[in-house]
Amino acid sequence: PQNIGIHAIEVYFPSTYVAQEDLEKFDGVSAGKYTLGLGQTNMAFCGDREDIYSLSLNAVNNLMEKFNVDPQSIGRLEVGTETVIDKSKSVKTVLMDLFAKHGNTSIDGIDTINACYGGTSALHNALQWMESSYWDGRNAIVVAGDIAVYEKGPARPTGGAGVIAMLIGPDAPIVFESGLRGVHMENVYDFYKPDMDSEYPRVDGKLSISCYFRAIDNCYNRYAKTFEKKYGQKFTLDQVDYALFHSPYNKLVQKSFGRMLYNDFLNNKNDAKFQTLEQYKQFQPEETYFNTDLEKALTALTKTDYQSKVAPTTNLAKQLGNTYCGSTYAGLLSLVDEKSNDLLGKRVLTFSYGSGLAASAFSFKVEKPINHIVEKVDLKNRLANRVRVSPQEFTDKLSLRETRHNLKDYVPSDQVQNMFPGSFYLSHVDEAGKRKYDRT
Ligand code: ACO
Repeated sequence: PQNIGIHAIEVYFPSTYVAQEDLEKFDGVSAGKYTLGLGQTNMAFCGDREDIYSLSLNAVNNLMEKFNVDPQSIGRLEVGTETVIDKSKSVKTVLMDLFAKHGNTSIDGIDTINACYGGTSALHNALQWMESSYWDGRNAIVVAGDIAVYEKGPARPTGGAGVIAMLIGPDAPIVFESGLRGVHMENVYDFYKPDMDSEYPRVDGKLSISCYFRAIDNCYNRYAKTFEKKYGQKFTLDQVDYALFHSPYNKLVQKSFGRMLYNDFLNNKNDAKFQTLEQYKQFQPEETYFNTDLEKALTALTKTDYQSKVAPTTNLAKQLGNTYCGSTYAGLLSLVDEKSNDLLGKRVLTFSYGSGLAASAFSFKVEKPINHIVEKVDLKNRLANRVRVSPQEFTDKLSLRETRHNLKDYVPSDQVQNMFPGSFYLSHVDEAGKRKYDRT
């Protein structure tokens, strides 16, 4: 098969959000800390009617309805998430309800878990399946997303919620550049979830940021090597039309694009365009993760390119917050929505990061028109139709989720009338922990 990639993409997000400017006041932090300091606008969240099963059912069901996907045409379905509500049963098996009722139970693939990286691993699995002798000619669906919640404190405004579903197949409009990938993985405890009795992670924010930058440095240079091998050309950011990042919060994305340029500098130290970086020649990259002067110099150098190459990828991440596994693909959907057919012929460099850590850089090219995706997803209207709730209500919902975590034999208490029409929601958890869903 040729030109394997993304035929269709859909996002499901909850109908309620909290505004970061409201949250700043509520938390008593200085005005601008979340909106300018983190670069975030709004944050999606769920009450007790939504869990990773219902979010994923919505994403896949809506993808199939909007894009007329024949349930029989799917031969692989896999899920990347770190929102675990069962230590054994996968989200994938729950999603089989959408296919089994049409007589298709022959669908390979299962869940992949590692922080925000599972979705990328799932996507790579689907791609590699299609390139292998096991491929049977059918398409794949990849699901990536999470409910990201933190305990009260500085990390809470970096939560979010949403699930992306993508239809993968040959002759796609958004095509993977095959053979191009740079991977970096190592064993660190920057963000992890050892507490089975809580939905919240343990996080060392500063460590996670340094890990993220180290992963960029390694993935970027390893990707560059594969690029140079494939095309016989030197790779720099000049070869990139758009750069797309896993987005815990927008400020980190701004810094990360600068970090890529810093790697170009390290590889071309005498290029005249880097003269403002002269004084950083002697530093080791790992000494510079928190060097604010270098950061400022890089921000100045990337200012124009950030606006044209990165800003169009950031809308969903600013509006939903960190959707963990979904974040990178929310960036892709934002870009598709923003640029539509202007993306024809363009290369999108993608960086995906999951704590712990697992990361990779790879790229897509848009080869065929994608305006039908923009029309069907209708992203901006749907975002505008959400309901803004108070920080108090948001905090109450997270407290409610705390009391529901691991609970059995209950009926969720949240109202369902404000959910988007046709949405799956959790109707009951029985005394054995089995979950039942209805639709609005
Ligand atoms: N106006 C403008 N900017 C402000 C203001 C203000 N009033 N107040 C603070 N800022 C700036 C700070 O200068 C800082 O900028 P910098 O990043 O350029 O230094 C930024 O806002 C954040 O402020 P900090 O004091 O550094 O924030 P804090 O330490 O309280 O928390 C953190 C930030 C560490 C990101 C926290 O939210 C966190 O732990 N989040 C979860 C971890 C995370 O997302 N890691 C990223 C990769 S891993 C992953 O995806 C989960």
